[in-house]
Amino acid sequence: MGKPAEGQFEEFETKENEMKILFYDTRDYDKDSFEEQLKDFPDISIDFIEADINPMTATLANGYDAVCGFVNSKINAFALEILAGFGVNLVLMRCAGFDAVNVNVAKDLGITVMRVPGYSPEAIAEHAMGLALASDRHIVKGFNRVRENDFELSGLLGHTLFGKTAGIVGTGKIGAAMCKIVRGFGMEVLGYDVYQNPDLKDYVTYVELDELLERSDLISLHCPLFDSNYHMIDAKAIDKMKKGVIFVNTARGGLVDTEALIDGIRTQKIGACGIDVYEEEGANVFRNRSSAIMESVTSTLCAFPNCVVTSHQAFFTKEALAAIAQTTLSNAQAFTKGEELPKANVVC
Ligand SMILES: NC(=O)c1ccc[n+]([C@@H]2O[C@H](COP(=O)([O-])OP(=O)(O)OC[C@H]3O[C@@H](n4cnc5c(N)ncnc54)[C@H](O)[C@@H]3O)[C@@H](O)[C@H]2O)c1
Repeated sequence: MGKPAEGQFEEFETKENEMKILFYDTRDYDKDSFEEQLKDFPDISIDFIEADINPMTATLANGYDAVCGFVNSKINAFALEILAGFGVNLVLMRCAGFDAVNVNVAKDLGITVMRVPGYSPEAIAEHAMGLALASDRHIVKGFNRVRENDFELSGLLGHTLFGKTAGIVGTGKIGAAMCKIVRGFGMEVLGYDVYQNPDLKDYVTYVELDELLERSDLISLHCPLFDSNYHMIDAKAIDKMKKGVIFVNTARGGLVDTEALIDGIRTQKIGACGIDVYEEEGANVFRNRSSAIMESVTSTLCAFPNCVVTSHQAFFTKEALAAIAQTTLSNAQAFTKGEELPKANVVC
């Protein structure tokens, strides 16, 4: 197990066989959820720091066995070489995505990278449905009115979803959870996916994307972003949608051409829009930029009365955080004990 550099941390005590993890980009909720689960992992200790990992802060990992990063970490070649130089041979991503890591370089340096492939898919699907309702039923606007003692109803008219058609794009873990939710609302469910999910065959009708766009009253995206489906929802796709459709994206910002989405709202093709992921989110996600003067397409979306935007919070439930902490710590434990690692959790 790694040893601290001399004089680096006064309280750096290492129990025999203890794995020490340096946890980057810590928020209060990360610390709470990991500390809660840590009691089941007596051989692991964690030091939490606020700084995110990048080539400069990678030097703080001297004396640790592993580092833990998140979606916006910059675990590039330089950072990985620094980690390898300190004998850090495990990178724990506390998220599903691993685009923050230069995987080829990690492989070359013999660093194992692990992730959390799935956690509470219902958390994301429930938020997607929340966005559909908040945008179509004008819940935020209604609340703001009541707070101002304005009890007018005009401008708050929405739609009954019962009996309407929902189109779910991507029917994997999260999409499947969304299919169940919209089914529970009494909607007919159309699915589009490159693979059909056999678990959904009793109540989801698979159709081509164009048919889904043409027939759905509510469209919700749940597929990953690849080069091949970048801007899959562009002006042409929006043109095919029903007038007044409710459009929800909790998958990835790059799936949607934001300018085309704005035009779709302006022309009233899109009647309500709920967005948790957006093309510009990289600079914003999980940061307080309330003093910044920003010119952005996101702020244009926020200005529309039928649009509700949240900033990548669909996953953010107590249950999902607990599952992320549990899997990350299990990954660390399996690695340090030399156990067989769950394939889906190993990036390289
Ligand atoms: N907003 C959030 O907080 C949040 C959190 C977690 C995941 N996500 C996003 O949700 C998405 C789905 O996650 P998941 O766990 O359900 O993944 P998953 O792998 O279980 O399912 C994804 C599904 O999309 C399908 N798919 C792939 N390419 C497609 C395409 N071009 N068109 C249609 N379908 C396609 C796959 O066949 C698969 O069935 C991912 O993009 C993920 O990044 C968002």
